[in-house]
Amino acid sequence: MRIAVCASEGAPYAKSGGLGDVMEALPAALARIEGNEVALFLPYYSKIKSNAAYPTERVAEFRVQLGWRQQYCGVMRLTNRTDGVQVYFLDNEYYFGGRSGAIYGDMDDGERFAYFSRACLDAMAALQYIPDVIQCNDWQTALIPTYLKAVYYGQFPKTRCMYTIHNIEYQGWANASFFDDMLGLPWEYRGTLDMNNSVNVMKGAIETADLVTTVSETYARELMYPYYAHGLDGILASNSWKLTGITNGIDVNTFNPETDKALPAHYNSETFVEGKAKVKAALQEEVGLPVKPDVPLMVMVTRLAGHKGLDLLCYIARRLMWEEDAQLLILGTGEAQYESFFKDLANQFPEQVSAKITFNLGLAARIYAGGDIYLMPSKSEPCGLSQMNAMRYGTVPVVHATGGLKDTVPPADENGEGGLGFTFQSYNADDFYASLKRCLSLYNNNREGFRALQKRGMETDFSWDVPAARYMELFQNMLSW
Ligand code: GLC
Repeated sequence: MRIAVCASEGAPYAKSGGLGDVMEALPAALARIEGNEVALFLPYYSKIKSNAAYPTERVAEFRVQLGWRQQYCGVMRLTNRTDGVQVYFLDNEYYFGGRSGAIYGDMDDGERFAYFSRACLDAMAALQYIPDVIQCNDWQTALIPTYLKAVYYGQFPKTRCMYTIHNIEYQGWANASFFDDMLGLPWEYRGTLDMNNSVNVMKGAIETADLVTTVSETYARELMYPYYAHGLDGILASNSWKLTGITNGIDVNTFNPETDKALPAHYNSETFVEGKAKVKAALQEEVGLPVKPDVPLMVMVTRLAGHKGLDLLCYIARRLMWEEDAQLLILGTGEAQYESFFKDLANQFPEQVSAKITFNLGLAARIYAGGDIYLMPSKSEPCGLSQMNAMRYGTVPVVHATGGLKDTVPPADENGEGGLGFTFQSYNADDFYASLKRCLSLYNNNREGFRALQKRGMETDFSWDVPAARYMELFQNMLSW
């Protein structure tokens, strides 16, 4: 099967969050399946352009029609990828060069990604790469299914399109004038993209894609409710026949405690007790906490954003530190209120709390490995990847039972039996506190039970093989229509 994957970010070239990780691992997993040909289309951001590790050759150039404008596009093929995925970067200096260096956040993001979506289809046509299936992701590439149906059907008469929602909070809203000024779509698509007299490109994709997926089964169900769907519950409900949840995997080669170069010691599910103890001691030292092997180390690697459940942690943090002989380590950047809260907390409890307000992949790996307990009380979480990273490294998750957290962390009982971590059902600080206490008590009073839980997490298959096979089933489904 010939597959084109289109996205605004993909690790290792450009990543701002989980989407970038998925766009690293999913195309590779699809390419491992016999008979598949996979191409990945990404913007040629300046930091990719200037990175000598990513040599390219120009294989096509053309102009992209954007309303009344015509904008240049160069197609740059990455020449050193070896896993069977063909990577194409779409080059336009005005949209993706210079700027702030950040992937998103420019005033004209709507225009930048409308351009990119249309350029992906032009690039496929120019390369004569006519895919059976296009898989596109989030609001940035949400115009692809609409362009495919409305403008490009002659060039791609048999191509089917799957649209994947990684996070429904960001939908790609624009003024109504964006439709005429920028998109150049036939007028009958105005209603398809219209929501409350504005343009909403994610809504358009839900209407025009052949199938819609999201990144966990529970999130697919949650999206039927206003609480989770940010205004799109009605649209999703009327298209519910095309919506499926496929829970993400993680890249088990990158995230492997036996080989991860960022770790000072290596281990597997047989040797983790000694291995993790060494990493924990080195980590405590590195972040300025007292090196205490038997004090439970609770950790979090996260964007400091409200929906990650930080308000719950802020609410209980002081009580927790007074009551428990435990340590807390946080790594991440984000909203100023949380950055200052955790810095203050670390000042107040220097023996117990360390806050690293920065972005550091190596330290993140040491935290996944050196921690005992991983906190993820997210208010909503389409899938979440770091809880899986944590389990792969033998760290026990305490999570809010929502979205992908619910699907990947079945609850254990107070003896640590029967699941992979500790969960709480309703989003409030007392329930979070209670589940965390159960986990701490297991650690403090029944270390064997705690270790059995760690071992089960390490031995669970979080690889992309299972989800990739599910994507293939749906692709095949679309092609049979
Ligand atoms: C988004 C979601 C996250 C998910 C990731 C990859 O970042 O917020 O839950 O794991 O996409 O699909």
